[in-house]
Amino acid sequence: MMEKEYSFTYQIFKNIDELNDEDKALLQRARANTSNAYVPYSSFQVSAIALMENGEIVNGTNQENASYPVGICAERVLLSTISSVQPNIAVKTIAISYHNLNGESSRPVAPCGMCRQALLEQENRFQQPIKIILSGMDGEVIIVQNARQLLPFNFSAEDML
Ligand code: THU
Repeated sequence: MMEKEYSFTYQIFKNIDELNDEDKALLQRARANTSNAYVPYSSFQVSAIALMENGEIVNGTNQENASYPVGICAERVLLSTISSVQPNIAVKTIAISYHNLNGESSRPVAPCGMCRQALLEQENRFQQPIKIILSGMDGEVIIVQNARQLLPFNFSAEDML
């Protein structure tokens, strides 16, 4: 028998003012864009915004549906948009924010499992780490250095070789 440990390092900042200028600007945009979410069922607005390697900005918000499972998370709206409008450009950084219209929005929340898988696919496609910034409308900010760290024991194209 052998035992292994999985761990990773991430950063926690007290607030947005501790970020470098580039990350700060991206998170500010993510926060501002939460109001574009379509959330008549959950009232939970999520915004994901990407800084591409060529400096372009692409954004996405969650889009819900009366048939609940049809709804799409902000992260996957973003990744589908990127793959449609900037298909040959790698993503440098993604900032994810949310505004809970029914509660507080001051602590970072992390992407759901399905979105982690989608983020990993994007990262693997360009063989380049995607920095992920997580924060609510104010308060702490968490930075994770790549998508792979968020998904231990992941399934990827390599498993099908
Ligand atoms: N949601 C996201 O947009 N991203 C996530 O990673 C978690 C959840 C959305 C889906 C749904 O519209 C609302 O948040 C409540 O689950």
